[in-house]
Amino acid sequence: MKKLLALVLTGVLGVSLLTACGSSSSAPSAAAETASTEGEAASVEAEASSGSALDKDTLIIGTNAAFPPFEYAGDDGTPAGFDIDLINAIGEKLGKKVEVKDMEFDSLVASIGNKIDIAIAGMTVTEERQKMVDFSDSYYEAVQNVIVAKDSAIASADDLKNKKIGVQLGTTGDFIASDIEGSEVSQYNKAVDAVNDLLNGRVDCVIIDANPAQEFVSQHAEELTALEGTQFGFETENYAIAMPKGDTALVEAVNQALKELKEDGTFDKLVAANITGE
Ligand code: ARG
Repeated sequence: MKKLLALVLTGVLGVSLLTACGSSSSAPSAAAETASTEGEAASVEAEASSGSALDKDTLIIGTNAAFPPFEYAGDDGTPAGFDIDLINAIGEKLGKKVEVKDMEFDSLVASIGNKIDIAIAGMTVTEERQKMVDFSDSYYEAVQNVIVAKDSAIASADDLKNKKIGVQLGTTGDFIASDIEGSEVSQYNKAVDAVNDLLNGRVDCVIIDANPAQEFVSQHAEELTALEGTQFGFETENYAIAMPKGDTALVEAVNQALKELKEDGTFDKLVAANITGE
């Protein structure tokens, strides 16, 4: 019905109104950017047909496969992990093929609606990101941890002031670190490089999500330890799947698939298979 109405409106009011609507929006959506690169005609057609990524047979998924256990390079080098299993299961529910692309975490949000249809990357829902993309229902609750050397004196929020902090670029850990008084933040494309610089003594600590923190620490159990973020007053974060802003059809379908996977026990199986301690 909505679709029909949109078609009628397009016919009656013509292209100019749609164009005007598009340009009046304060933040151009990723979807609009794609359309504009493909020309005005494509843009109008996309609007009239709702332009959902759901119309495609294959969904292109962006991730950053350097964030275990959610995503990492599997045995054959292609992305593996909880998020990859989850998006494959969602793709199956939707009757879509999924193709996973490994990218820099910091470029995922801007790529949604052009280079990729969906991003799944242990991505925390934030207000800033919500201006650019729509999120699915949350599928995992997380908190930042602080990785320190075992002999470190860092134990509270105050101790983080004026410290050298390693983070993955563009992550919530990065945003938290940058807000700490006197902090000197080193941003890495890969979290593991931040951890290596902690081992080398180039940074005093690394702020990163709890599960990857524990994975990285377990590889250096003699030297490193991961401190709970609650000890530093960090807030709980929610991971969700990011999709083009305004693609309600896709968001609803993904949420429905998520719900079914939770109800039929698949979701819990994937958690058990991928995430230690759960
Ligand atoms: N949860 C954090 C955020 O959303 C970090 C996610 C990093 N994910 C990754 N695949 N590297 O900013």
